[in-house]
Amino acid sequence: MAEDIRGLYVTALQNTHALELQALQIMERQVERLERYPDMAAALRRHITETHGQRDRLEEALAAMNSSPSTLKEGVLGMMGNLAALAHTPAQDEILKNAFANRAFENYEAAAYDALITLTEAAGHSAALTGFQQSLKEELTMAQTVADLVRPTTLRYIELTTAGAKADR
Ligand SMILES: [Fe+2]
Repeated sequence: MAEDIRGLYVTALQNTHALELQALQIMERQVERLERYPDMAAALRRHITETHGQRDRLEEALAAMNSSPSTLKEGVLGMMGNLAALAHTPAQDEILKNAFANRAFENYEAAAYDALITLTEAAGHSAALTGFQQSLKEELTMAQTVADLVRPTTLRYIELTTAGAKADR
């Protein structure tokens, strides 16, 4: 394959890998803290398991390209890092901020896989395609799940708050 396309592909693999590591950090941190929102916790737990598989697919593709995950926490994570920081700041409405961040994050990841799949095709690495299409499907499903969770989560937040109960997470 042309060297420049290969370079673009490897960079996308590394960036997507870094993105998945960030995703794991964000989700694990939320699951640890969640106490009163079992549906959100269950969705995150399921997706943490899927994300391990997504990370493995990326590492496999990097190895096939004789490359490895980047050790740099690059600027590509800037926006997601800010979202993560927002989600991790203790606040009365922590659960709502997490619900927003989760919805944004999963859609960002789905877009990243759309681009990665396009680069995988351009690079001719057909062995990796099925796996990345599976990852894209998982991201889109999780994006829908967390989108659907915003309203019930908000209703529960209202219910707990008005009952004078702990509602923040
Ligand atoms: Fe995801």
